Amino acid sequence: MLRPLLIAPSVLASDFSRLGEEVRDVDQAGADWIHLDVMDGHFVPNISFGPDVIKAMRPHSKKVFDTHLMIAPCDPYLDAFAKAGSDIITVHAEAGPHLHRSLQAIRALGKKAGVSLNPATPVGVLEHVVDLLDLVLIMSVNPGFGGQAFIPAAIEKVRAVKMLTAGRPVDIEVDGGVTADTVSAIAAAGANVFVAGSAVFKGGAPAAYKANISAIRDAAMLARGEMA
Ligand code: DX5
Ligand code: ZN
Repeated sequence: MLRPLLIAPSVLASDFSRLGEEVRDVDQAGADWIHLDVMDGHFVPNISFGPDVIKAMRPHSKKVFDTHLMIAPCDPYLDAFAKAGSDIITVHAEAGPHLHRSLQAIRALGKKAGVSLNPATPVGVLEHVVDLLDLVLIMSVNPGFGGQAFIPAAIEKVRAVKMLTAGRPVDIEVDGGVTADTVSAIAAAGANVFVAGSAVFKGGAPAAYKANISAIRDAAMLARGEMA
């Protein structure tokens, strides 16, 4: 059975001087989730925003806040990201030696738990935490920056994660270089959540966001065989 098709715009590509408005605009434009990229300048070579900024965005949308932590260590900050209003908290498998503990901690906070895999990280790291997973986020670029080119090897990884999580209620999300062109192969491979930063925010205005989200959604639907 297909899990629902979800488009998760990454506000990393938005105008940070108008974050609240940008969140409202992508919400109205048809976003299913709001993807929040947290970067620490240590785990990844860029710094974005932290829990206080997420808290400030929270009143601007009722959609699921999908927090992608690119930080190490992550455990000391999970509580703050939960309190800030995250619905899903995703940590990187590479961020520390205690992935199992981090997932337990996220669930103990009452949030959905995700694991993200860098392009070089094998799917096997998920094998012994599969019971603690609500989501797997497959990076299709090296994390740290928006606007990079999609790495096609991610497609094979989606298939492997699909097999590993078969029969379980786990969302498979792909992040990095997702566009109306690249989304088809990703959707056909079995991913159901599509993160897009530059491909959604290009055009810089609500009408463009709506058209951009629709283009990605239509291509994904077609690949899933959902269009008449
Ligand atoms: C990259 C982030 C992505 C990024 C995607 O480290 O995790 O979510 O915003 O940006 P695009 O869609 O522009 O590749
Ligand atoms: Zn992300």
